[in-house]
Amino acid sequence: MTAPYPASKPATELGAVGLVRRLFAEHGRQHLWAYVAAAALLAVSAATTAYSAWLMKPAVNGMVGKGDFKELRALAWTVWLLFTLRGLATFGSLTLLARAGNRVVAEIQRRVFDALLGQDMRFFHERHSAEFTTRLSMAANGMRDAMQAAITSISRDVLTAAGLAVVMAVQDPLLAGLTLLTLPVAMLTLGRLIVKIRKFARRSFDGTTRIVETLQEAVLGARIVKSFNLEDKMRERMSLAVREVERSANRMASTAAISAPISDMLAGFAVGAVIFYGSWRVTVQHADPGALFSFITALLLAYEPLKRLGKSNLDIQNGLVGARMIYEILDAPRVEAQGSGLPKLDVSNGRIAFENARFGYRADEPVLKGVDFVAEPNMTTALVGPSGGGKSTIVALIQRFFPLDGGRISIDGVDISGVDIHSLRARIAFVSQDVFLFRGTIRENIALGRPNATPAEIVSAAEKAHAHDFIVGFASGYDTNVGEQGAQLSGGQRARIAIARAILKDAPILLLDEPTAALDSESEREIQKALDALRLGRTTIVVAHRLQTIINANQICVIDGGLVAERGSHADLIAGSGVYRDFFAAQFGDARSEAAGT
Ligand SMILES: Nc1ncnc2c1ncn2[C@@H]1O[C@H](COP(=O)(O)OP(=O)(O)OP(=O)(O)O)[C@@H](O)[C@H]1O
Ligand SMILES: [Mg+2]
Repeated sequence: MTAPYPASKPATELGAVGLVRRLFAEHGRQHLWAYVAAAALLAVSAATTAYSAWLMKPAVNGMVGKGDFKELRALAWTVWLLFTLRGLATFGSLTLLARAGNRVVAEIQRRVFDALLGQDMRFFHERHSAEFTTRLSMAANGMRDAMQAAITSISRDVLTAAGLAVVMAVQDPLLAGLTLLTLPVAMLTLGRLIVKIRKFARRSFDGTTRIVETLQEAVLGARIVKSFNLEDKMRERMSLAVREVERSANRMASTAAISAPISDMLAGFAVGAVIFYGSWRVTVQHADPGALFSFITALLLAYEPLKRLGKSNLDIQNGLVGARMIYEILDAPRVEAQGSGLPKLDVSNGRIAFENARFGYRADEPVLKGVDFVAEPNMTTALVGPSGGGKSTIVALIQRFFPLDGGRISIDGVDISGVDIHSLRARIAFVSQDVFLFRGTIRENIALGRPNATPAEIVSAAEKAHAHDFIVGFASGYDTNVGEQGAQLSGGQRARIAIARAILKDAPILLLDEPTAALDSESEREIQKALDALRLGRTTIVVAHRLQTIINANQICVIDGGLVAERGSHADLIAGSGVYRDFFAAQFGDARSEAAGT
C-alpha cells in the first residue's frame, strides 16, 4: 500500500501540474524503474528520428554531387537500422507503460475501495452508490491514461521535437528562428481548448453516473417498476442521461478535432515559408542544398510529435478530471479506518447505558433529544413506539454508526466513543430492520457471522433461528443461492437467515431491529423460544413490533418524540395510565385481556 500523500491542498484545487505531480508521487515511485526504462527507450526512439533527419544532408549532397554509391549504400543500411531500432524501442516502451499503467489502475481501485470501507454511514447516506461505480471504473482508467500520456508526450514527443529543433538550428539558424514564431499561436489556441475539454469531461462523468444510477434502480426495483408501470419513466430518465453523455462526447470530440485544422494551417504556413525562402537562398545565395533538405525533413518530422503533444495535453486534462474525482474519495477523512490506537472494548457484563444521549442526522433537526435508559445484562429490553420515533436510530448509535451530538452511551461504564470501533462491533450481533444478504449461498451468508465456524455450527445456528427446515427443503440445501440481495428468498426466510447469522456470531450484545410482519405467528413463537435461550449471558435490545416480543421483554422503553416516554415491565406499564397503555391499546386492542392471556 502507498503511504498517505501529504496533501497540502485539496485535490479539487490542484492545477494540472500539481495533480500530475501527486499522481507520480503516489503511484510513479513503485514503478519508477519501468517509467525510467520506458522514458529511456522513448528517448532512443526520439534520437533515431532526429538522426534520420540529420542524414538527409549527406544523402542529398551525395546524390547531387559525386555519386559515391559505397557511401550511399552505407547510408541506406544506417537508415534501415535506425528505423528498426526505433520500432523496437517503441515496442519496449509501450509494453512497459501499459503494464505499469494497468498496475496503477489496480492500485487505485484497491485504494478507493479501502477508502470507502473506512467511511461512516453518513458518507454513504449522502451519496448514490452509482457515483462510486463510475469512479472506480471510469475515473481509474482516466488516471492511467493521464499518466501514460504524460510519460509518452514528455519523453517521446518533447524529446523528438527538441532533437529535431537542434537539427534545424544547426542546419539553418535563421529559418529555425522564423519557424519558432508559430509556436506561441499554437499554444494559445491549445489553452482555450483545454478549458472546454475539462468541462465536457466532467459532464460526461456525471452523465455516466446517471446512467449507472438509472440502471441499478431499474434492476433492483424491477418489481416496483413493473407494478407501477414505470417503464416509460425509467426509459425517459435513461434517455436523458444517455443523451447528456452523447452530447458531451460529441462536443469533446469536436473540440479535440478542431486542434487538427488549426495546427495544420499553422504548419502549412511554416513549411510553405521555409520552402520559398530556403529555395531562394539555395538558388540565389548558393546556400547548401543538403542543409535545406535536412531542415525541411526535420521540420516535417517535428510536426507530428508537436501535434501529438497538443493532443496528449488534451488527453491528460481529460484523465485528470477522473483523478480529481478519485482524490475526492481518497482524501475524505477515514473516520473508521483500522487501527485507531484507541483501547479495545472489554465487555464483562454488557450493561448498556444511555445518558442524556442527543443526536440528529441533520443539524437543527434533533431525532433523539436526551435519551436515558439502561439495558441490563441477561435481560431483554424492548424498544416500542410510533414509526419514526427513533428506535432504529438508537440501535445504530450503540454500534457507533454515527457520533452523538451530546450525552453518552456506555457499555460496562466505558464510553463507547472512546474505544476502538472494530472491537465494539465485534461484541455486537445485529439484525437490521431491512435484512441484507450478500451474493452467494445461504451457507456463506450465515457464515459471515463467524468466518471460522464449522459446518455443524452453521447448521446449529440455523436450527436455533428456525431456518434449518426451510433450508433443507431446497434442492441445494445450504448451497442454495440467495440471489442479488436475497431476491430468491421470501421476506421471512431472509429474516431467519439474518437471525442465524447473528446467533452464529455469539456476541455478548444482541441488537434486533425486528422486521415488521415478515414472520407468521408460528415461526415467531419458535424464534421467540430461540431468543429466550439466547438471552442468557447476553444483553438483548430488540425493537419490537410484535405482541409476543413486547410482553416477554424484561423491560420496555417507549420511544416517542426522541425521548424515553415511559419505562418498565409490561405489567407495570399496562397498570399505569401513561402513553404505553394507549399505544398498546391502539396496537393490539384491549390491553388487559391480552396480557392476562400470557
Ligand atoms: N439517514 C437518515 N437521514 C436523515 N434522517 C433520518 C435518517 N434515518 C432516519 N431519519 C429520521 O430519523 C427519525 C427516526 O428514524 P428511525 O429510523 O430511528 O425511526 P424508527 O423509530 O426506527 O421508526 P420505524 O418504526 O418506522 O422503523 C425519522 O424521523 C427519520 O425520518
Ligand atoms: Mg426502525
